[in-house]
Amino acid sequence: MLHSFLLSSLLLASPALAATAADWSTRMIYQVVTDRFALSDNSSSACDTSNRTYCGGSWVGIINHLDYIQNMGFDAVWISPIVENVDGTGYGDGYHGYWSRDIDTVSTRFGSTDDLKALSTAIHERGMYFMLDIVINHFAGVPTNDTVSQDNLFTFDYSELLPFGTEAEFHTQCFISDYTNQTNVEQCWLGDKVLPLPDIDTEDDAVVATLNAWIKNIVAEYGIDGVRIDTVKHIRHDFWSNFTASAGVFTLGEVLSENATYAGSYIGAVDAVLDYPSWYNLVGAFNDSLGNLSALENSPALASLAPDGPSSIALLTATFLENHDQPRFASYTSDSALTKNAMTWPFVTDGIPIMYYGQEQGYAGGADPYNREALWLSGYMTDKPLVAHAQSLTAVRKLAIAGNASFLTGPARWISQADPSTLMLSKLPLTTLLTNIGTMGTRAPTWSIPAGLYAPNTTLVDALACKTVTVDGQGGATVVTAEAGLPQVLIPASMLSKAGGACPALATGGSSGARQGRRAVAGLAVLGAVLGVLALV
Ligand SMILES: *[C@@H]1O[C@H](CO)[C@@H](O)[C@H](O)[C@H]1NC(C)=O
Ligand SMILES: *[C@@H]1O[C@H](CO)[C@@H](O)[C@H](O)[C@H]1NC(C)=O
Ligand SMILES: *[C@@H]1O[C@H](CO)[C@@H](O)[C@H](O)[C@H]1NC(C)=O
Ligand SMILES: *[C@@H]1O[C@H](CO)[C@@H](O)[C@H](O)[C@H]1NC(C)=O
Ligand SMILES: *[C@@H]1O[C@H](CO)[C@@H](O)[C@H](O)[C@H]1NC(C)=O
Ligand SMILES: *[C@@H]1O[C@H](CO)[C@@H](O)[C@H](O)[C@H]1NC(C)=O
Ligand SMILES: *[C@@H]1O[C@H](CO)[C@@H](O)[C@H](O)[C@H]1NC(C)=O
Ligand SMILES: *[C@@H]1O[C@H](CO)[C@@H](O)[C@H](O)[C@H]1NC(C)=O
Ligand SMILES: *[C@@H]1O[C@H](CO)[C@@H](O)[C@H](O)[C@H]1NC(C)=O
Ligand SMILES: *[C@@H]1O[C@H](CO)[C@@H](O)[C@H](O)[C@H]1NC(C)=O
Repeated sequence: MLHSFLLSSLLLASPALAATAADWSTRMIYQVVTDRFALSDNSSSACDTSNRTYCGGSWVGIINHLDYIQNMGFDAVWISPIVENVDGTGYGDGYHGYWSRDIDTVSTRFGSTDDLKALSTAIHERGMYFMLDIVINHFAGVPTNDTVSQDNLFTFDYSELLPFGTEAEFHTQCFISDYTNQTNVEQCWLGDKVLPLPDIDTEDDAVVATLNAWIKNIVAEYGIDGVRIDTVKHIRHDFWSNFTASAGVFTLGEVLSENATYAGSYIGAVDAVLDYPSWYNLVGAFNDSLGNLSALENSPALASLAPDGPSSIALLTATFLENHDQPRFASYTSDSALTKNAMTWPFVTDGIPIMYYGQEQGYAGGADPYNREALWLSGYMTDKPLVAHAQSLTAVRKLAIAGNASFLTGPARWISQADPSTLMLSKLPLTTLLTNIGTMGTRAPTWSIPAGLYAPNTTLVDALACKTVTVDGQGGATVVTAEAGLPQVLIPASMLSKAGGACPALATGGSSGARQGRRAVAGLAVLGAVLGVLALV
């Protein structure tokens, strides 16, 4: 079955860029729900998120709007799952892609296999990376009888769930009932009686071999540079290393947990995990002007809790403010200053920054399904304040990567502040000043840059407002915000570039930035080689 599916494709996707974790660490990812990002014909039909059905977005639509993504400074695109899903359930259709029915068939809802390959090629032609979202833990199955049997089981037509197709290839039915029992989490089922999610028997060697072959083929067929993996904690830990090896590209796992020790324990099983523990604290810090900043400051670096220790903090996590599973940040607060502060954090800290489509347009949908708005309804306007904010954030991170070979490996560190409404995060050459005082704050928050953080008399530029701050003869300075509530990202003016990026008019450096940039890339190549060796042992 897998075979005929693969042979049926005529067009070849450009090959994957064989991207490793070290390669990905330099990147910034824009996350797309294919059905909601762009229509093929550039029309603008209605999309009622509450209907939980297809709105018509497609891979061709993404191809046509790669300029929009790239112009914000992103150099990697994560798309929602591509396989055929279950439709017409009690919770609507599988427009989001997370309800697999047949993982050997690409969903025709989003276009043809050739369209998907053309998307891969178009992404690679721009030097961008292509990340595919995949679900390995479960399928979705509409019960054939909504009354449970005497054994309390739902009946399914397992022959629909391909390529497996028999009950024996799934775990015995039981819904997860105890999240403190890891066996229960791994072997019982997600979902509920309206839409059970049949849990693949990943203890079965033949099933495991099928999944490993599947990922190897899908990566090759569609030129995938990295995979985002759904529900990683629902499969036994030691399943993942062989799966990652079969994928042969960067694997980024979703471990939905507030517990950094628990989430960090999956680093190594997959290459990196989404920094969910910090996400909870990030939202809690900025969703309100009374938010808990110290919880974010005390949030442990996930990577430092990896079982083998932090070989390189930058490579092991990915940071985000929004995604398709959580309410949009603007649904918690309409204060634009709070939103700008929260949006800043993923770009100035350790890990690979991710932005979820639509945040830049100020979308404010609540929990699923309201957080999957159609982007075409925004008109893809580029003169929006959060588009400009995203552009500044990606630009200053690129300058920092170019300006300091050690920027990515950091680690970032918090510098404690006297003002309780502020945070200071230093990941040199960047120093970021955050506050949750809000747009309507009645006083100007203050931050103190400690002596010695920068060389004496260094001219720094806030890359968000393009304003200068000069540190004193001891390399410290007191900064007071000019505009209440806005974040600042400081970088030495000597690291700006007259040729472009953030605040080019304030650049003071010559060509040294470019020289250091080459050193940074060389440093990463060494790091990549080291990680490559580690992967072999
Ligand atoms: C849609 O818009 C994009 C970007 O403006 C353009 O490249 C493409 O040709 C358009 N497609 C159609 C079918 O009009
Ligand atoms: C949403 O569903 C309702 C009821 O099925 C339908 O009348 C309406 O046209 C749908 N709206 C959109 C925008 O598709
Ligand atoms: C549904 O399941 C119930 C309980 O097992 C059984 O009595 C009934 O006949 C089934 N209905 C159909 C249509 O299969
Ligand atoms: C943990 O869950 C498994 C699977 O549901 C179950 O068999 C086992 O009894 C549970 N263990 C405990 C200690 O509850
Ligand atoms: C990984 O694959 C190898 C080769 O097939 C096998 O010997 C090994 O047991 C697998 N490891 C795990 C943890 O499944
Ligand atoms: C966090 O996870 C670790 C590792 O799984 C576990 O030992 C610890 O009890 C968890 N902490 C909490 C508060 O649940
Ligand atoms: C902000 O987040 C915290 C922590 O999750 C929560 O307790 C609080 O209710 C949230 N406040 C708002 C306004 O959403
Ligand atoms: C803020 O978070 C810290 C954890 O870092 C906790 O100790 C403290 O109690 C929290 N404060 C409030 C007001 O919830
Ligand atoms: C570069 O980054 C390293 C690691 O964070 C730091 O120790 C060093 O001071 C930074 N140098 C500059 C010039 O920013
Ligand atoms: C910093 O600037 C002050 C005032 O211009 C000057 O006196 C001092 O020598 C400078 N320090 C260094 C280390 O350049």
